[in-house]
Amino acid sequence: MTEKHLIWDLPLRIFHWGFAATILAAWYTAEQGADLVEIHMQLGFVALALIAFRILWGLIGPKHARFSQFVPSPKSLLSYLRSPNTAKSTAGHNPLGALMVILMILLISAQAISGLFINDDVFSSGPYYGRISNELEKVMKFLHHNTFDFMIAAIVLHIAAITFYWRVKKENLVLPMITGKKTTAQVKSSDAIPHSKIILGCIVAVCCVIFVYWLVVVNAPVIEEFYY
Ligand code: HEM
Ligand code: HEM
Repeated sequence: MTEKHLIWDLPLRIFHWGFAATILAAWYTAEQGADLVEIHMQLGFVALALIAFRILWGLIGPKHARFSQFVPSPKSLLSYLRSPNTAKSTAGHNPLGALMVILMILLISAQAISGLFINDDVFSSGPYYGRISNELEKVMKFLHHNTFDFMIAAIVLHIAAITFYWRVKKENLVLPMITGKKTTAQVKSSDAIPHSKIILGCIVAVCCVIFVYWLVVVNAPVIEEFYY
């Protein structure tokens, strides 16, 4: 039987599938217009909490979740691009995949943060709508309306790269993102992480939920309602 080694910790895997589901649901609800805009904003808050979690997890999570482990130097990126097959193998994200990960997190950060400052021209507004200058508000609206097109391109590339690995390089990357484990054919035993740091993951997740609650409820300016 082939031995398997734990590479992706459980909190990172929950983050990944939760993030993918949240983004797709936010997209769907945005397309439905005013009817689902309230749900859309709630999903946006979930996305903010997930991003905060991933940033902290990238600093204190297990080995392969850490930015220091996978953010590539220009040298390692160049050597990977020159000869992807002979470049030093990586148990976690390869240098090109790592760039994609960072790009997706940055794009969704821009999308979710800009959402806080805009309204839908009907009844619903982000919690900080009306609290910045008109010029800045226009920038936020522009960002919220245009960033997602780049995100769609990034998601398509992401899935295309995974399909390429599966069909051409005969490497299944999806199963490890579900089970957390890679086989000895894919990684060395020294690459394995001892455990998922689940308790730490729960503490970080609770802190992120409290932070987003504070940001969008406690700290959000009270909007005065006028009835005519
Ligand atoms: C909206 C859709 C999606 C988004 C936003 C997304 C985002 C991400 C992010 C941010 C990572 C990096 C994980 C981390 O280090 O935290 C990642 C990795 C990964 N994703 Fe997705 N993902 C999406 C959909 C999918 C789908 C549908 C699949 C499966 C077909 C998939 C399979 C994977 C795999 C296998 C990896 C690990 C790649 C590697 O080994 O380097 N993702 N994704
Ligand atoms: C994952 C995060 C988010 C994604 C992927 C996302 C995506 C989108 C998309 C694609 C649209 C349609 C834009 C268009 O019609 O051109 C939209 C509209 C909108 N979003 Fe978001 N959004 C996110 C987070 C948020 C947040 C956090 C808020 C506010 C709390 C928000 C509030 C709105 C509003 C009010 C609209 C309607 C804008 C209009 O009609 O002009 N979004 N969003």
